[in-house]
Amino acid sequence: MCVDLIKLTIDGKDVEVPAGTSVLDAAESIGIHIPRLCYDPCLSSVGACRICVVEIAGMRNLPASCVTTVTPGMVVRSDTPAVMEARKTILELLVANHPMDCLTCEKMGDCRLAEYCYAYGVTKGSFKGEEHHYDLEESNPFIVRDLNKCIVCGKCIRACNEITGKDILDFAYRGFGTKVAPFGDTPYIESDCVFCGNCVSVCPTGALTEKQMRGKGRRWELKRVRTTCPFCGVGCNFDLNIMNGKIVGVTSTNGPVNGRALCVKGRFGWDYVHNPKRLTKPLIKKNGKFEEATWGEALGLIATRFKEIRDKHGADSFAALSSARCTNEENYLVQKFTRVVMGTNNVDHCART
Ligand code: FES
Repeated sequence: MCVDLIKLTIDGKDVEVPAGTSVLDAAESIGIHIPRLCYDPCLSSVGACRICVVEIAGMRNLPASCVTTVTPGMVVRSDTPAVMEARKTILELLVANHPMDCLTCEKMGDCRLAEYCYAYGVTKGSFKGEEHHYDLEESNPFIVRDLNKCIVCGKCIRACNEITGKDILDFAYRGFGTKVAPFGDTPYIESDCVFCGNCVSVCPTGALTEKQMRGKGRRWELKRVRTTCPFCGVGCNFDLNIMNGKIVGVTSTNGPVNGRALCVKGRFGWDYVHNPKRLTKPLIKKNGKFEEATWGEALGLIATRFKEIRDKHGADSFAALSSARCTNEENYLVQKFTRVVMGTNNVDHCART
């Protein structure tokens, strides 16, 4: 398929991108970072926050670059005094009604609003006015909602709709009272929320945070380990957040299979890893009771019994049922063992039908 390429300049640099590309993405493609709060490459762009404004020759106002598509010969400047001033004013307006408890905010170190305030030298105080005083919502086991920190960018609404395929969240009320809420302005736990946490993963501030991670460590202290979810056969990728050798949470990555999407099990169901009731030693039933054994004893017993069954009843008396929760390599070994050692093709898999 032939794609039209559009040539333009951004901050004096020539760039050529496919038609339909946004100015923000075109800038990104040549290493120019334009601030963004409501923009996310995984979501539709709505141009809600205006922090991404730029100057474009021939345009009277400062357009939002995330919702402005490139045109041939366009001349864009992302760093003029007017652009900087506009972004600073937007940040000042946002923090006018934002708690400045960054010292204890769970999102510190991963808050885009704080990052831009620091970059643009914005502190509290330029605008004075009414402030929200919403109660913290902690009534569900997974997500903490602090609507005082919400900048109403709508990313959580779009994530719920476009990533999860649900429609739990929307804007409620009007004007200063506008907030994001499930239908009827109920807590998450009383809504049809499936607690996938995809809304949390896109929130640019501390409005939505993972309950399990609260107080477990600052974001920059966490070691991230990329892994594949073991819960089903889809093979979603994510990063485990590790603190002092223990998992404290999960962060979405751009996995080849799942993008940033996760379900409740992948994002919040990892606590079994450190459950003290997990079996760490094999058990062998003796006289009707399970007793701890060594791996040598357990594997030796399995091998002996398998051999007895095969020799007494024939190879086809044996069958192996493998699992989608195993890796490809493990599934390969199961079928190899069944065919070569047990001598039968009786191999099946829970995800076959
Ligand atoms: Fe472009 Fe919000 S990032 S308007």
